Amino acid sequence: MEKLTLLYEGKGKKLYTTNDANRVIAEFKDDLTAFNAHKKGSEAGKGSLNCQISSILFKLLEKNNIKTHFVEMLDCYNMLCKKVKIIPLEVVVRNIATGSLTKRLGIKDGEKLKFPLVEFYYKNDLLNDPILNDEHCKIINIVDNDKDINYIKDYARKINDILISFFMEKNLKLVDFKIEFGRDENNEIILSDEISPDSCRLWDKDTNKKMDKDIFRQSLGNVSDAYKEVLNRIK
Ligand code: TMP
Ligand code: ASP
Repeated sequence: MEKLTLLYEGKGKKLYTTNDANRVIAEFKDDLTAFNAHKKGSEAGKGSLNCQISSILFKLLEKNNIKTHFVEMLDCYNMLCKKVKIIPLEVVVRNIATGSLTKRLGIKDGEKLKFPLVEFYYKNDLLNDPILNDEHCKIINIVDNDKDINYIKDYARKINDILISFFMEKNLKLVDFKIEFGRDENNEIILSDEISPDSCRLWDKDTNKKMDKDIFRQSLGNVSDAYKEVLNRIK
């Protein structure tokens, strides 16, 4: 399968059409951005690590009956995916309070939440990805009905359960993560985008060392060594 034309370029990936109308190739970029791209950087090999980590996690989820857009990894930077229409929602699941949640609600950083918290943010850079409740989603026609909203929330919780135990076996705490969903050719909602240390927070189980993009957000050093360690632990 070969890349034909560039369909879309996001902060972390480029999407290309292929000669199959229902397949796209996602090329993972080495670029790093944070705070709605106000902070920018790049590390050689970062994209390749995320492509490999994401592929392992999508395969794990597929094995656990989660439908995803993943078809196969073509090489270290390129993933063949089903073509979907992305739902402009960032679905965040949180197990431990940190990041924007601690700032918004004053919860102590590192506090384990009573239950996994599912949040929606509007994927819209111009508006700075505002947080949304279920009614906002319906008012701005992101999701038309409660059935789809509940489906997405339930799916996000199932994904969280699978990932928590998988990472725990690898001595990693899944603190929180962001996922995106899309509609496939049959209009079915399936997991899309990526799951990588760019979109998750992962802490070492014993030391709480950060092994994710917070290293870049907080200028704590290079991300590549941490992402390599994540890959080595999960593969
Ligand atoms: P937050 O605490 O900054 O709201 O982030 C929650 C989770 O979502 C964290 O795992 C990082 C991830 N995330 C993204 O993948 N993309 C984003 O644009 C933001 C803001 C967070
Ligand atoms: N991905 C977002 C950006 O590039 C923010 C983040 O992940 O912190 O701006």
